[in-house]
Amino acid sequence: MTQRQFETTIDWTDFWEDANEDRRTKTAPAAQFTLDPLRSFVETKGAPGSVADVGCGPGTVPFVMAEQFPAATVVGYDAAEPVLAENRDRAEREGHANLAFEQTVLPSFDPDRSFDLVTCFYTLMYVEEIEAALAALYDAVAPGGHLVVTYHNRYAHRHFRTMAEDPHEHLGPESPWDPNNFEDRFELLIEGENLLSHERIHEILGTWPQSIWSVAGEDERYEAWRYNPMVYVPKTV
Ligand SMILES: C[S@@+](CC[C@H](N)C(=O)[O-])C[C@H]1O[C@@H](n2cnc3c(N)ncnc32)[C@H](O)[C@@H]1O
Repeated sequence: MTQRQFETTIDWTDFWEDANEDRRTKTAPAAQFTLDPLRSFVETKGAPGSVADVGCGPGTVPFVMAEQFPAATVVGYDAAEPVLAENRDRAEREGHANLAFEQTVLPSFDPDRSFDLVTCFYTLMYVEEIEAALAALYDAVAPGGHLVVTYHNRYAHRHFRTMAEDPHEHLGPESPWDPNNFEDRFELLIEGENLLSHERIHEILGTWPQSIWSVAGEDERYEAWRYNPMVYVPKTV
């Protein structure tokens, strides 16, 4: 694995190597923000036979999907081997026979199969070549399936730039982010290098994304949805 992927953000292998419970909890935003709408989404669209979650971190989404859909094949992918190893241990301890964890470093994602549901939450903002990453994720969706992602837009850009002016002032002890490495971690976002929008996703994938809230219901919207839209992109049969 080359170092290039981590050049403009933090080194995620190091980050997960010495992660304690607090760090794991604070680096699992999917648990707080996307699980409920994702559950509503799969209820509406039907049980997936296969799921890939890319940038899975401590594996919230893969573990929940594997539990909810025991007949489905579920694979969690991440760039950082240490967190994958922990997830594999947990899957074995808990006896999830349908769950695997594999390494991939976006923008490269080339699994040897396709999936009914591909998700990628709170990860694209760390990837320099976001267009290639998004296209690779969508390529892995089986016909009739869906890609579901969160992304950062121009409102997030403004918000993160403001925080970067004085991270110690803006980020208290409860913040999920460390003020000491905030600028490094979010460099791409602060520089506005890898922002997405509905229009840009359409340009890249040739299909319009749709807001998850059109399926999940307005009352499930999380507070930061204006900065971090959560969308799905169907793959036509
Ligand atoms: C903020 S965490 C999000 C974890 C999980 N998706 C969630 O929302 O709870 C971002 C994850 O992306 C992984 N990551 C960072 N850059 C990546 C890349 N280029 N390819 C794949 N994973 C990456 C990190 O190791 C980390 O686990």
